[in-house]
Amino acid sequence: MTVPWVEKYRPKRVSEVIDNKEAVQAFLSWMASWEKGKPSKKAALLYGPAGVGKTSLAIAYATEKGYDLVEVNASDWRTAEKVKAVVGSACEYATLNGMRKRVVLVDEVDGIAGQEDAGGIPAIKDAIEKTKVPLVLVANNPWSQRLATIRDMCEMIEFKHIHKQLIMSHLRKICALEGLECSDEVLKAIAERSNGDLRSAINDLQALAMVGPRIDGSTLAALGYRDRVKEIFSALVQVFQSKTIKDAWASTENIGMDIDNFFNWILDNVPQQLTDLTDLEQAMDFLARADLYFTKIKKMQRWGLLRYAAPLMTGGVAISKKKTSKGFVKFSFPQRIRMLQATKRDREIMNSVTSKMASKCHMSSYKAGIEMLPFLSFILKNDGDVAKDLTEFFELSESEKSYLSGKPREGGEARVKAAKPKKSPPTRRRSEASA
Ligand SMILES: Nc1ncnc2c1ncn2[C@@H]1O[C@H](COP(=O)(O)OP(=O)(O)OP(=O)(O)O)[C@@H](O)[C@H]1O
Ligand SMILES: [Mg+2]
Repeated sequence: MTVPWVEKYRPKRVSEVIDNKEAVQAFLSWMASWEKGKPSKKAALLYGPAGVGKTSLAIAYATEKGYDLVEVNASDWRTAEKVKAVVGSACEYATLNGMRKRVVLVDEVDGIAGQEDAGGIPAIKDAIEKTKVPLVLVANNPWSQRLATIRDMCEMIEFKHIHKQLIMSHLRKICALEGLECSDEVLKAIAERSNGDLRSAINDLQALAMVGPRIDGSTLAALGYRDRVKEIFSALVQVFQSKTIKDAWASTENIGMDIDNFFNWILDNVPQQLTDLTDLEQAMDFLARADLYFTKIKKMQRWGLLRYAAPLMTGGVAISKKKTSKGFVKFSFPQRIRMLQATKRDREIMNSVTSKMASKCHMSSYKAGIEMLPFLSFILKNDGDVAKDLTEFFELSESEKSYLSGKPREGGEARVKAAKPKKSPPTRRRSEASA
């Protein structure tokens, strides 16, 4: 069996963890405080986007420094009892003075926060209080209200997306080791599509390597790798040109994007494609029904309902189109997705700031955004001691601070201005489908 390259090339030493140097440094200082017997905080919470080295750093450190790593995945547990049994025993019955040193890694802590059983979080809190060994928690999004108590007890260590250039050079090294010839154009396309997620970049490279030992632009084109939008357009053609529900429904197979995103594509293109008003009315009626199902699916997590939403939004539209339009009518990129894409970074920063404010001030994120955010932004714009105190109090990162104050980061990029939709849609980014 082929070994997944993500595992084969997982860093074995801390120095092999690329990018995120601040996070690595913070982690090393925290571990050093444990080794001196005076931990600054008993647990560390490593957080940030997927595939950027959070788990890898903990594993590399343990391997390099001779720790036993007890690794558990929090979202697998259904009950508080299980959390207590697993984390509790790992943390309590081992000490740094034992035969081998031990570090406990609890992955996907945010998974536990979303679960019905509310006892998981107090159980983790209990483990943090009692632990005799370093406890490393990992989460993608640590800002939910339910994680507030845990956050306060942890050394918070933020990981960010990995820079495109570093992803490219990492892929280049793997190519050399695997005897793979890959043009810079290809590496750039993979890095761009990865959106700063090194894991997905390595997986893509390994998938492309199956084609042969030489990969260039034409291989990418042949695989339809570069132009994601092309796949979407052919699915749209299938919806608008099918004569039967079954044929139109088949367009959702291997679509490579969330089906509710595909819904947006269909919805935005219906008015141009169905020129007859009666046809249009009927198609919109089917889409409205599909939308009701999507609301239910999201609210109640009833994924089974997709089998009703999918034929309604595809087949319903197809059979509504009784008049065929003259000539080819161009498909357009949905406005809503375009807007979401253009404002993605802004929204991420705003969400992160309002969650921090909400947690510190014991209010909802919504209220924090409406009632406090404008004042915080005003104070930060005017600098001074209060601005400094508030930055510390809310534990704002550099990028959050510079966003709110409207000032560029030192040596870094300028503030993200109010989001404006771009004129022409970027066509190659993975984020376009998942914005
Ligand atoms: N900073 C990095 N340095 C070196 N390799 C990395 C780095 N980030 C990711 N990788 C590669 O990607 C794989 C996945 O990384 P890792 O498991 O550390 O991601 P993660 O940040 O924990 O993601 P998730 O939030 O999905 O758990 C690793 O096995 C490694 O091959
Ligand atoms: Mg991980």
